[in-house]
Amino acid sequence: MAALPLTDALTEGRERTLALVAPLSDADVERQHVEIMSPLVWDLAHIAAYEELWLVHRHAGEPLSRPELAAMYDAFETPRAVRGDLRLLNRAEAVAYLEDVRRRVPDPGSDGFLHELVLRHEHQHGETMLQAIELARLTPPPAVPRRPRPAAPGGHTGLESVAVPAGPCEIGAPATGFAYDNERPRHRTELPAFRIGHTPITNATFLTFVEGGGYERRPWWSDEAWAWKEQYDITHPEGWARGPTGEWRRWTLDGWAPLDPDEPVVHVSCFEADAFARAHGARLPTEAEWEKAATWDQEAQAARRYPWGDEPPDERRANLDHGLLGPAPAGAYPAGASPCGALGMLGDVWEWTASDFHGYDGFVAHPYREYSDVFFGRDYKVLRGGSWATRARVATPTFRNWDLPQRRQIFAGVRLAWDA
Ligand SMILES: [Fe+2]
Repeated sequence: MAALPLTDALTEGRERTLALVAPLSDADVERQHVEIMSPLVWDLAHIAAYEELWLVHRHAGEPLSRPELAAMYDAFETPRAVRGDLRLLNRAEAVAYLEDVRRRVPDPGSDGFLHELVLRHEHQHGETMLQAIELARLTPPPAVPRRPRPAAPGGHTGLESVAVPAGPCEIGAPATGFAYDNERPRHRTELPAFRIGHTPITNATFLTFVEGGGYERRPWWSDEAWAWKEQYDITHPEGWARGPTGEWRRWTLDGWAPLDPDEPVVHVSCFEADAFARAHGARLPTEAEWEKAATWDQEAQAARRYPWGDEPPDERRANLDHGLLGPAPAGAYPAGASPCGALGMLGDVWEWTASDFHGYDGFVAHPYREYSDVFFGRDYKVLRGGSWATRARVATPTFRNWDLPQRRQIFAGVRLAWDA
């Protein structure tokens, strides 16, 4: 399945954005439900403001149609915590703003970098909006095309591992084609041998940690993680609860569901992922280990574009694009295996790494510092691999996501690593 040409992809991307919120009431779209997430209507108008700024104003040189809105819909000038207190455009006004901007977008021309940037920005906000919808437990579910759920192959707990031999590898996006600034420059590095989880950790495996006192054993938690867990009384992943007869269930976009033993655990923080790893004599992979396991073809001595090869993702290889509205059973996509045999590296759940978010040596901010440069440092941990809520177009093995280690709104799970 080749990626759509840009103009068609922009149209498809917009249809998808609107489908996410279509079934929701105006009140649910306009209200801020959770402090760490924006009101959904802020995302809608922000998508329009970003598109107008980059394509209509900066690219085509036209004036902004609503300069008075620029600060309110700038992610830096208006942080999430205050977005619910503003007099935002209402839903109908935000949709009208989206339509008005789109009518004034110039043709991509031969380069298309800024159009691709704007398209991916909208795709990424779709994932953020899905996080907000799931976290706030809004219903009914998004009106997106659904796919049949693959059967659980069985035999995967997340504790099985595959070997990655010592030696050189290449990390980062190639110099040509679209990539974000923080994925470049591509560079060679040398890693000692290690093992990495064959699949992400499943709910069944994480449940044994929950019920085996994992959240009470001090030695498994870093000081910072323990303080966070105690302060917020965290005793299980976000969205888990016991049902009327004591059985575990999980909130999903389709409502409460029995905890599926075969699905990867989701909505855990980096703190929880790290504690789980320590409890199993393991650790989280570094970013470089994760990327080597996802792409490095030992025989060819070259990085693959995707874990399985050069063809873009399709539904036989990865759970992306919202089709299941949740994770698939671990190991359900054998055709998506990486060169070392790891399964589910792209899609299903983001995977926390042990790495802080830094620029690679030779990093150059492009096209604006606020995309990633201002986040570099020790505060943020990197996540890799995308989730079921990531659009296929933006899910690449060099893409770097980042967030604070206590955050649980991301569709993030755990893949373990071990020294060889
Ligand atoms: Fe944004």
